[in-house]
Amino acid sequence: MPTLYDLRRTGDHVITASQFDRDSLLDLFATARHMEGAIARRERMDVLEGALLGNLFFEPSTRTRLSFDAAFQRLGGSVLDTTAMAFSSMAKGESLHDTARVISGYVDVIVVRHPERGSVAEFAAASVVPVINGGDGPGEHPTQALLDLYTIEKEVGRLNGLVVAFVGDLRYGRTVHSLIRALSNFDEITVRLVAPDSLQLSDELEAEMTARGMKLTRHSSMPEGLADAHVVYMTRLQKERMSEGERASISADFVLNAKRVSSWCQDEIVIMHPLPRDSSAPVCELSEDLDSDPRLAIFRQTDNGIPVRMALFAHVMGVAQEIA
Ligand code: NCD
Repeated sequence: MPTLYDLRRTGDHVITASQFDRDSLLDLFATARHMEGAIARRERMDVLEGALLGNLFFEPSTRTRLSFDAAFQRLGGSVLDTTAMAFSSMAKGESLHDTARVISGYVDVIVVRHPERGSVAEFAAASVVPVINGGDGPGEHPTQALLDLYTIEKEVGRLNGLVVAFVGDLRYGRTVHSLIRALSNFDEITVRLVAPDSLQLSDELEAEMTARGMKLTRHSSMPEGLADAHVVYMTRLQKERMSEGERASISADFVLNAKRVSSWCQDEIVIMHPLPRDSSAPVCELSEDLDSDPRLAIFRQTDNGIPVRMALFAHVMGVAQEIA
């Protein structure tokens, strides 16, 4: 069986989307397709019976936490969770190291979300069981990239020769950082980075991706960035990661609605968003007037989170072979 991740770099953990190469992604997606079929047929799977997941979310989450929980239970396992710093001993000053060592003695695998970049890698270094990054501040969100890529393959029908436009907050948006890394495994990928200057992708990540053969172009105009895209990936402004001054300085409007899709995008466009979209903002970045448009893939995207996370658990826990 091909190994799912590069053990030399990460031990048994899933920390960054850069761990995945093309073969490991395709192998994972084959398992996810199998899971999808089994869910549709309501087949019972109990390959993780007796196993415990520690689901630790020290930052808000709806989809990621519940879909990891559902995926683990659908494989027969049980879940322990803690959902806020305030309710854990971190509020008493316990370090990530001590928390990780303690909890990893209770469970078989851990998912962690934490507000600081690099925190999940630090946590993993002290854990005696595999740790999966559920989002480390503005850093990465590798499992979202897995389900996003799986969605792109299902919606477009291929992963090579794609133009993908990322719109909005490319600076703090960790799902963008991970998906761009995952896409860089495929051939002839062009990425359009559509954002105000202050929220552009970091020069470091852009240079790293260029060195891997990806073509990236920066745009401050949406019509220009969207014109030849096969996929548009909208994002929410990560206001919680910005200062008041930074927030106030973002003036350009990076919003997609039905009228803009019909005048700026190709007919076959696939519209994605990791969610949540910000319906509390004066203008939501992804208008609800697109909700009945079949090209809006956002809820198929969230649905894909279950089979993809089931597949990931199966590989991380070494039972993928049993399922196949
Ligand atoms: C994202 C996240 O938490 O990074 N949500 C998710 O996990 N699907 C995106 C966001 O919060 O904007």
